[in-house]
Amino acid sequence: MRLITSTVEMREFRREARARGKSIGLVPTMGALHAGHISLIHQAKRQCDVIVVSVFVNPTQFDSPEDLARYPRNLDKDLEMLGPLKIDATLAPEASELYPEGFSVSVDAGKVAAPLEGASRPGHFRGVATVVTKLFNIVKPNVAYFGQKDFQQVQVIRRLVEDLNMDVRLSVCPTVRESDGVAVSSRNAHLNEEERQAARVINHGLRLAESFAHAGESSVEKVLDEMHKLYASEPRVHLEYAAIVEPAQLTPVKRLSPGCVALVAARVGPARLIDNLIFGPPGASPEMLLQLALTTQPIVDHRSLIPGFETEAVKLRIASCRNCAALSTIRLPPREFLTSYVLAHYPDRALPRGAVIGRDSPLNPDMYLYRKPKSPNRFSVGLYELLGIKSFEEFKSRFVLTDAVRCHATGSHISPNALAYCANHLREELKLFPNIETMVVLGEDTYSQFQQFLLERSAAEVKPFEDIMRPDGWAREEARVPLFGERSMRIFYCYHPTRGYNRSPSIAKWLG
Ligand code: PAJ
Repeated sequence: MRLITSTVEMREFRREARARGKSIGLVPTMGALHAGHISLIHQAKRQCDVIVVSVFVNPTQFDSPEDLARYPRNLDKDLEMLGPLKIDATLAPEASELYPEGFSVSVDAGKVAAPLEGASRPGHFRGVATVVTKLFNIVKPNVAYFGQKDFQQVQVIRRLVEDLNMDVRLSVCPTVRESDGVAVSSRNAHLNEEERQAARVINHGLRLAESFAHAGESSVEKVLDEMHKLYASEPRVHLEYAAIVEPAQLTPVKRLSPGCVALVAARVGPARLIDNLIFGPPGASPEMLLQLALTTQPIVDHRSLIPGFETEAVKLRIASCRNCAALSTIRLPPREFLTSYVLAHYPDRALPRGAVIGRDSPLNPDMYLYRKPKSPNRFSVGLYELLGIKSFEEFKSRFVLTDAVRCHATGSHISPNALAYCANHLREELKLFPNIETMVVLGEDTYSQFQQFLLERSAAEVKPFEDIMRPDGWAREEARVPLFGERSMRIFYCYHPTRGYNRSPSIAKWLG
């Protein structure tokens, strides 16, 4: 790992990495590293080739000199923690390196920075937006990582990136908590034992709000009332605010709905602690809740572009994925995406006669579309059995494998527009293979999306998946797929090969 303290050296490092074709992930921190920061680094390592962690206590985001002076600093300890993580570089500049004599330009953090933390800590988000812009300019990362713990910060930075056309993708990771639910924070170190115990009430209040929501309560007034009562019962905790807002502008709402966020700030002893909770269906994973809160309509209209065939188009696709669904989970390396996969692996695109449409996991490089699995995996083994295929080469000569929804949008919470948008990509992709005559549709999600977006059937016309799968464990039909014109296609519906107990028997003999 390189320790870099100058912006010039950082630029050279970044140029060299980019020249080698490596993607760069940046994890901005103020040091005093803990499990929350480490989770961001792990996520970055899963998604990028070269990892840069910045450690910089940014003076411009502190609203009081005492708070700045008290902020824990221990670079040696941070470097010790980073050692085993095998990151590529730590950027730890002095304040004078980023803010030299004469520094005078700063970045307005916009409307979303005004309420809550912005109101409590004037100038804070201007400082954050300024330093994050500087870090992005110096490191030029492909992806930058932020924690849900600072939810408003995430939204400020998303707007910053969008509004100033910054060429960086953001990945947001769920809040890491101590075993008692307290959000991990460098500020927890300021608490004595009693204060640390008392701090638990912050998360308890959020959980209480969630339990009301899950029990069907939708009045925000009622839920906030219950939260206030609980906070008032802990004398060591001085609540600054508890708010329930919609996630994009952070404006207060009257009714709870999925994706709304409860945010709390409180003083406990010498520390000021913040925490938040995203409302969503019971049992939703933290990643899914993040998707819920960060889902908005795509901002750009790229219907006119053929996805995957120009860098710009790929960038737009990623930008829109960021807005439509799996912000925290997608891994779409632009250079390797559709263009190179299709061209490299299907020089003769007239060859495949079949399309397998499933949901496959781009999180796992072994399972990338069109790429040979390094070793047989659950998906490929099950799929080959289903199709009666002996090898990847045989598979490739007969089929193209694709994904029903590129960004893995699924479930009832994903807006129909987002799904329709993803289906648009699927149609464009399938059109690249002119001789497809058979389609194999894997799993229930794919079935319903296929029926709706490719066969263009209304919800009322779509039979329940389980009904059609009975009695054979698979089903078939001949139908016209509008994107392929008038000719009729053979369509097979099967269980997804990795989806647990229900496996469809081989359909090889019907494939011909
Ligand atoms: P810092 O407080 O050091 O946090 C760095 C990153 O770690 C932020 O994205 C923050 O949200 C994330 N983080 C902190 N605690 C976390 C937890 N318990 N779980 C998950 N993620 C957590 O936030 C800043 O620094 C600064 O404002 C910065 C963005 C670096 C700009 O100076």
